[in-house]
Parts: sequence; structure tokens; C-alpha cells
Amino acid sequence: MEISTDNLTARLWRELTRAPDDKHHEWRTPVLATQGVDHMGPQARTVVLRHADAALCRLRVYSDARSPKCVELVAQPLAQLTFWSKRLNWQLRVSAHASVEFEGDQVNVAWNHLRQSRAAADYLSEVPPGQIQSTNQHLSKIAVDSLRVHHLAILNFQVISMDWLALSKDGHRRARLTPSGLVRWLVP
Ligand SMILES: Cc1cc2nc3c(=O)[nH]c(=O)nc-3n(C[C@H](O)[C@H](O)[C@H](O)COP(=O)(O)O)c2cc1C
Repeated sequence: MEISTDNLTARLWRELTRAPDDKHHEWRTPVLATQGVDHMGPQARTVVLRHADAALCRLRVYSDARSPKCVELVAQPLAQLTFWSKRLNWQLRVSAHASVEFEGDQVNVAWNHLRQSRAAADYLSEVPPGQIQSTNQHLSKIAVDSLRVHHLAILNFQVISMDWLALSKDGHRRARLTPSGLVRWLVP
């Protein structure tokens, strides 16, 4: 399908909403950039896109509530998620306002779903992520016990704007999109 001003927004959200459920979709693992605290400078890391809501222009990621990225987003909620797809030859940079949910219905629903999966162990560690590891810690495998206290937090990203770049031998194309539906074509 030819990309035009009329269909670009829908096309991007189609990819974003497909990605969480498709393990092979390259947009399932964007890079999340945050502002570091204590003069640490920018911090970027890969995350899994868990949910995309086209109607609300919202993206969702899970993390350990004790991780530095949660601290950073609480201190400075402006963040960017960068997606690259070799298949599409598209880069998408999503600027967003983040909010971190540490508890509540949404977290409970997400945990009830997650705790049956292998990923559950990621949220059950007694030691916070990023701590210096003691010599024998890496040997002890965490037993996934759904009754244990979990540390799952939901990172919600309310989209402020999107910067789409399509690489092509016939000429690159770039556009900035806002949730209000505005599409501006930019020099790539
Ligand atoms: C493919 C891949 C997917 C990842 N997904 C997540 C994720 O969904 N949530 C998360 O908190 N960390 C995820 N990580 C780990 C982060 O990249 C990062 O190393 C970790 O969360 C610590 O980040 P922080 O110290 O900046 O908080 C993933 C790493 C890889 C390589």
C-alpha cells in the first residue's frame, strides 16, 4: 500500500498494535531513552512493547519497579521509544509522557497474566536490578512462586509526537505526526 498523509498514522499504529503479540515483529523490542538522574546523562535500553492502544495513543512496557528507569521516569517523565524495522526499513521515534504504575488494578491484571509465563522470574528477584552481584547469586535460580511478592510496574507512555523515517533507494521519507492527526513531511 502506498503511504500517504491520509493513511500514514493508521499504518504506523497497525504495526505498533501488531508488535506485542508477534514475537518476530522487530517493533516488539524498542529502545527506551530516559534522562538519567544524578548527572548520569541519557540512558537507553531495550524493552519489550507489551501493549499499544491506537485510540488512546498509548504504549505500555513492563519493568521491575525498583529499576533505575522507573526512578528516572518519575523524576523526568519525558521519554523516547525508538523502533527500527529492517523488514519495513522504517525507524519510528516516539516522544512520550510517561507515568509509572506501581500498584492497582492494571498491575494486578498484568501480574496475573505474567505469573504463568517464564518472564515471571524477572519480577520476583529479592535483590533489585542493577545491584552488585554477590559471587553465588547468579547460581541460585529463582523459584517462580506466584505467592511471592512481585516487583512488576507498568510504564505507560502517552504519545506526544512521532518521527517516522522510511529509508528507500528511491529517496528517503520522513514525517512528524501528532495524536491530533497532524502529519508534517520533513526533509529526511
Ligand atoms: C531483548 C530485550 C528485552 C528487554 N525487555 C525489557 C523490558 O521489557 N523491561 C525491562 O525493564 N527491561 C528489559 N530488558 C532489560 C533492559 O534492557 C535493561 O538492561 C534493564 O531493564 C536495566 O535497565 P535500567 O537499569 O536502565 O533500569 C530487555 C533487554 C533485552 C536485551
